Amino acid sequence: MNEVRIIGTGSYVPTNRMTNDDLSQIVDTHDEWITSRTGIKERRISTGENTSDLARNAALQAIESAGITPEDIDLIIVNTITPDAFMPSTACMIQGAIGAHRAVCFDVSAACTGFIYGINIATQFLRTGQHQTALIIGAEVLSKVVDWNDRNTCVLFGDGAGASVLQGGSQKGILSIYVGSDGTKQELLQCPAVPVQNTYIPARANFSNAMTMNGNEVFKFAGRIIMESIEKVLQNTGYTLEDVAHIIPHQANVRIIEYAARKLGISPKRFYMNLDRYGNTSAASIPLALDEMVRENRIQDGDKVILVGFGGGLTWGAVLIEWNQNKK
Ligand code: COA
Repeated sequence: MNEVRIIGTGSYVPTNRMTNDDLSQIVDTHDEWITSRTGIKERRISTGENTSDLARNAALQAIESAGITPEDIDLIIVNTITPDAFMPSTACMIQGAIGAHRAVCFDVSAACTGFIYGINIATQFLRTGQHQTALIIGAEVLSKVVDWNDRNTCVLFGDGAGASVLQGGSQKGILSIYVGSDGTKQELLQCPAVPVQNTYIPARANFSNAMTMNGNEVFKFAGRIIMESIEKVLQNTGYTLEDVAHIIPHQANVRIIEYAARKLGISPKRFYMNLDRYGNTSAASIPLALDEMVRENRIQDGDKVILVGFGGGLTWGAVLIEWNQNKK
């Protein structure tokens, strides 16, 4: 079996910033409420770019940082709940756009846990040698599915993309993966697609495909599952939290992260956060944060890093990595 490691990262966000003050012009809200309840100060909102546009830019950066060419990639997985289209997959769109002619391409739907699921799937292929070099992207234009009249949700989300290149070989990287799902709690976070309507069934009046959420229940689930996922991903690895240099959580809410940190008995400072600048970008949030850390030289070869996510489905998961991007 091969080892699997991340050899490059990239990210991209739309240039348009929407501050909390901007939002207060749209719905009945204000900066103090949003900042104190969530930690979010601003988010990026697309003025026209779609999910595949953000994904392509993040992908090209990740490919450059990995020092490979698109022809080297033989697997592309895009994790998104806001694809441009039902068909083709966003992954196929990226393949066409970047010229990764050899790649097998598909999308994964696991909401905010998407990037963790993507790493999990790619790692299996790379370990067995069925594929050698995988491009994993988390990309969302959530502003397409946010209800801009609902102050409970529209203040939380933003648009963005992050990407990583994974490669199979002899150098260690992905040490442990833990993932889970619970479809009995699907109503807590939902975003409907098109309803059944055809020649027998007339179009439903008042149908909306906007996102809905039970904020309080999601909050409780998130705090608990971050703690559980971190404990599970460390289990039987020989490592403890003391050995971990960085935790990169899904960027949903500073209070969720503070709650999880308290439960784990560690400082919230050990969790990297950029949600103040981007809000919750769902599948993009973890790879976006990871790329930011890599570009700011916050992660050194040999560091143990945990990625931990949770989201609609419900879904959750964590990955323990020994960072060895630069090892030859
Ligand atoms: N601005 C001003 N007031 C707002 C508001 C906003 N944007 N959104 C809600 N409120 C109001 C509510 O109407 C309520 O008013 P009321 O007491 O008069 O009824 C009050 O603020 C408190 O609402 P509540 O929902 O109890 O707030 P909260 O402290 O639980 O925070 C969330 C709400 C959404 C921030 C919080 O539940 C949360 O973060 N949940 C997790 C969401 C999440 O991360 N989802 C994605 C997971 S992947």
